[in-house]
Amino acid sequence: MSFERSAALVAEGACHIAGGVNSNFRIGMAGGPLVFQRGEGAYLIDADGNRLIDYYCGMGAMVLGHTPKGVQQAVKEQVDKGILYAGQSEIEFEAARILCERIASAQRIRFGSSGSEVAQAAFRLARAATGKRIILKFEGHYHGWFDNILWSTAPAQNATGPEDAPVLVAGSKGQDPIDAAGLDVIGWNDLARLEARLAKGDIAGVIMEPAMCNQGAIAPAAGYLEGALAACRKHGAILIFDEVITGFRLGQRSAQGRFGVTPDLSIFAKAIANGFPVAAIVGRADLLDLFATGGVLHGGTFNAQPVTMAAMVATQQALTPEHYEKSSKCGVRLRDGIAKILKDTGIKAQVTGFELMFHVGLGLDAPAKNYRDLLASDKALYVRFAHALLKRGVRVLERGAWFVSSEHDDAVVDATLDAVRGAAKEIA
Ligand SMILES: Cc1ncc(COP(=O)(O)O)c(C=O)c1O
Repeated sequence: MSFERSAALVAEGACHIAGGVNSNFRIGMAGGPLVFQRGEGAYLIDADGNRLIDYYCGMGAMVLGHTPKGVQQAVKEQVDKGILYAGQSEIEFEAARILCERIASAQRIRFGSSGSEVAQAAFRLARAATGKRIILKFEGHYHGWFDNILWSTAPAQNATGPEDAPVLVAGSKGQDPIDAAGLDVIGWNDLARLEARLAKGDIAGVIMEPAMCNQGAIAPAAGYLEGALAACRKHGAILIFDEVITGFRLGQRSAQGRFGVTPDLSIFAKAIANGFPVAAIVGRADLLDLFATGGVLHGGTFNAQPVTMAAMVATQQALTPEHYEKSSKCGVRLRDGIAKILKDTGIKAQVTGFELMFHVGLGLDAPAKNYRDLLASDKALYVRFAHALLKRGVRVLERGAWFVSSEHDDAVVDATLDAVRGAAKEIA
């Protein structure tokens, strides 16, 4: 399989686009950044004519695959009715109603365009509601690329500091250290540590991925989410779930429905509209209403853009319990099949996570409970594995995450497992 035309196009494109890519997360890819011509169900067709089974799924967004008929049709119809009204539309009220029905914490909502942006709205609400300043985050959790939160998302082992007092590590050059003044970090999945930090009394909001999926795919320890909520209540902090990945991947009611814990605020993006730029901040009515009557500002030219709202409504209509049941079967068969092949080939690995999103960590002795455990994985070997898969027509993220859509049926899973067998042999 050749990727020469992709490489040539990226090199040529780099004359105009910095690095030839429009997100830094697209630079580091096995085989070099690829250029795509179209998507079809579970497949992407690249500029060299390769037909690749895609497990990026739009970085988790394409829960219905690349060409969901209902979504495509709804978008075409809305385009004919107009693109941006800078006013309200009936379709956005319909989208909001669905969200409030499906998501336990959603008494009220506001739409935005990206996960990074609605995370900022959550911090603003938490500070306004509590009068406190500090946002508490967890090592390895990612909540967008903005200066005040891009800290300790994937710190190098030698930079993390002691486990009981982690250091805030900037994720990029150019971040002002002053931006970390409103932030603190601790390890995730450890209730005693969280309770001790909250007891200092200065925390406005605690933000976490309710299942850690940006790095790894780690479920919360039994009682952790419940305990976090109780501790936030006790110490007057707002609990924020970042469901940008888990939302509509861990089920129709998302992580909060699956684990039965209702936070004060939550944020959604990615799968909410199957690849259209929709994000949402949802939560307690008294908090969200601060936007309406409490002097807290929230804006955005593209918020609730009607074409994206039509995509969201159509996506949500397709995300039925039957959808989850059917795609989960294929996801579990794939996840367990990969684990078995790696084991049979003698490659030490932990395959952990959920039905429609899981993580393959090579070199790990035990399932990771938090970010520090993941640091023991053999990342270089995984990159070789990802590259070996790509040569066999399967495109996976180099950080070990696999996203499954409803288009990844039994035939696609069989073809993938064949490629996994070959790739495992190659790297063993
Ligand atoms: C858990 C999580 N939160 C927030 C974000 C930021 O979302 P966006 O890329 O839409 O700004 C991401 C993106 O990958 C994410 O994985």
